[in-house]
Amino acid sequence: MTRAATGPVDQLIEYVESLKMQGITRCDVSPDTLARLTPAASRAPTRAARKPAAPSAAGGTLEEIAERIAVCRHCGLCETRTKTVPGQGNPKPELMFIGEGPGADEDKQGLAFVGRAGQLLTKIIEAMGFSRNEVFIGNIVKCRPPGNRTPTQDEMEACLPYLHEQIAILKPKVIVCLGATAVKGLFGPDVGGITKIRGQWKSFEGIDTMPTYHPAYLLRNPAGKKDVWADMKAVLKRMNRPVPTKSA
Ligand code: URA
Repeated sequence: MTRAATGPVDQLIEYVESLKMQGITRCDVSPDTLARLTPAASRAPTRAARKPAAPSAAGGTLEEIAERIAVCRHCGLCETRTKTVPGQGNPKPELMFIGEGPGADEDKQGLAFVGRAGQLLTKIIEAMGFSRNEVFIGNIVKCRPPGNRTPTQDEMEACLPYLHEQIAILKPKVIVCLGATAVKGLFGPDVGGITKIRGQWKSFEGIDTMPTYHPAYLLRNPAGKKDVWADMKAVLKRMNRPVPTKSA
């Protein structure tokens, strides 16, 4: 039995159902159209109204999460972004790196850690004996904060459900948190300063998690590289991987 379509959303549902009946299982929808279909109530909810999504509640895949991120309007960063940066890499990684949020290069390309800090991260990953494609690289927020400022607590809270869903799907053996924002994103604002807690194992949802310095910090303070290398050696040991003698 067909329902009488009452409004544009009903009409759309009816149209998609008719496609399904014809055996059509895919159709292209532009991010703009999806954004316009997003009910006003689900845009930019207040902090009180915002509830973290249960991990993978939508039965999501990484691609499906990235599609939702592409049209996300849960915080003001959507107004100034060029591209969303959902994160990329091995969908079944042993190792996951989490940074703060996209910078200018990432915002242009839609890829995490492709600027100067990203090049240093690549060196660290390769010195550990991995390629970038073998690990997953993501961020706390998926849109660039203007001028590369630190994301606000509200922006982090609006975006974190995506990361939680990604981690639940990726199930890495070990997570490396790059810098203070990444650690605060996973463990809350009172977790302590990065200088104090780097190198100390933590557990996120049962996953061994190593906080260390952000590569952008290392570009300004190369003396911190030896600490990061010590942290990465601890990661390799925890993963039962060979520990190279040469650092990044
Ligand atoms: N810094 C981050 O924290 N993430 C990126 O993707 C790039 C730079």
